Amino acid sequence: MAASSSFKFLLADFASGSPFIPSNYIRPAGDRPELDGVENSGEAIPVIDLSGLNGPHRHKVVTEIGMACKNAGFFKVKKHGIPKEVLHGMLHASKAFFLLPESVRLKNYSDDPTKSTRLSTSFNIATEKLSSWRDYLRLHCHPIESFINEWPSEPPSFKPAAADYASHIRRLALRLLSAISESLSLKSGYLESALGRHAQHMAINYYPQCPQPELTYGLPAHKDPNVITILMQDGVTGLQAMRDGKWVAVEAEAGELVVNVGDQLQVLSNGRYKSVLHRAVVNKDMERLSVPTFYCPGPETVVEAAEELVDEEHPRLYKKFTYGDYTEKFWKGGLRMESCLDLFRVSE
Ligand code: OGA
Ligand code: NI
Repeated sequence: MAASSSFKFLLADFASGSPFIPSNYIRPAGDRPELDGVENSGEAIPVIDLSGLNGPHRHKVVTEIGMACKNAGFFKVKKHGIPKEVLHGMLHASKAFFLLPESVRLKNYSDDPTKSTRLSTSFNIATEKLSSWRDYLRLHCHPIESFINEWPSEPPSFKPAAADYASHIRRLALRLLSAISESLSLKSGYLESALGRHAQHMAINYYPQCPQPELTYGLPAHKDPNVITILMQDGVTGLQAMRDGKWVAVEAEAGELVVNVGDQLQVLSNGRYKSVLHRAVVNKDMERLSVPTFYCPGPETVVEAAEELVDEEHPRLYKKFTYGDYTEKFWKGGLRMESCLDLFRVSE
């Protein structure tokens, strides 16, 4: 894959040195991160211990997960069964990737969102007016054999670490989907089969230190288009989620993973579970790395609310669509406060 001829700019390489950010990163007053006013999530984002999921207390854990999906749209999981070495291995290989010389990294560059492996910057530089303080590598991960040949071959630790991490995360995603199905009083395998041919996408977000973090975002407020997202963060906090009309910081505790409801789970649950706004802020002193996995239906899968969750009291909220249609609208629209879901609402 050749680097795009028109745009060879990666933030990571530009960012060093200048005390000012370029003007295309400066958000208008009124749309800036207010770095000081944000509370730590405390109890706003529940922490759920998954060790009980395979034993006699499954029902209790399933209820906790259901409550978190309904009330916060976000939760953290601990004792999720993924070994520490697998998490560290992935973080380590990801950092090593972003430390490679630009000419090596750029072999993976593309600004075409339909490419299954690509390095890019900001969100969608082909359509956006304002940029975000982020470089990212996106990988399709399921089935691994179909994509691993496209993944970066440098550093040598990257492919094995990412393959190991992706297969552990997939198993966790499937356990969560069955618990979430049960929490909606659906059959345990409901969501797994509703996704049709599954897809799993991973992003490695690299947020360099930023000389003026009060003027820009790593990622502006958005909702994730997929079913559920499972995010690993390095030790640096930067993720914020909207809770009761306020931004709360979702701290990065070692070993914990952050799970959030995406737009497709809002549709499949007929609005019982909400996809929630979140954003990433950057800081002056430390670079930050996060690795979200977006668990999705295949592009041809028709997504619609479970029949069991539609009745007179709960009319169907969204029209049928294929996930491919949805993601096309999502990437075209750019990140924004209004959800892409509004485009698929059943009219009153
Ligand atoms: C995302 C996202 C948050 C973070 O990539 O969709 O919300 O903390 N990332 O990097
Ligand atoms: Ni997100």
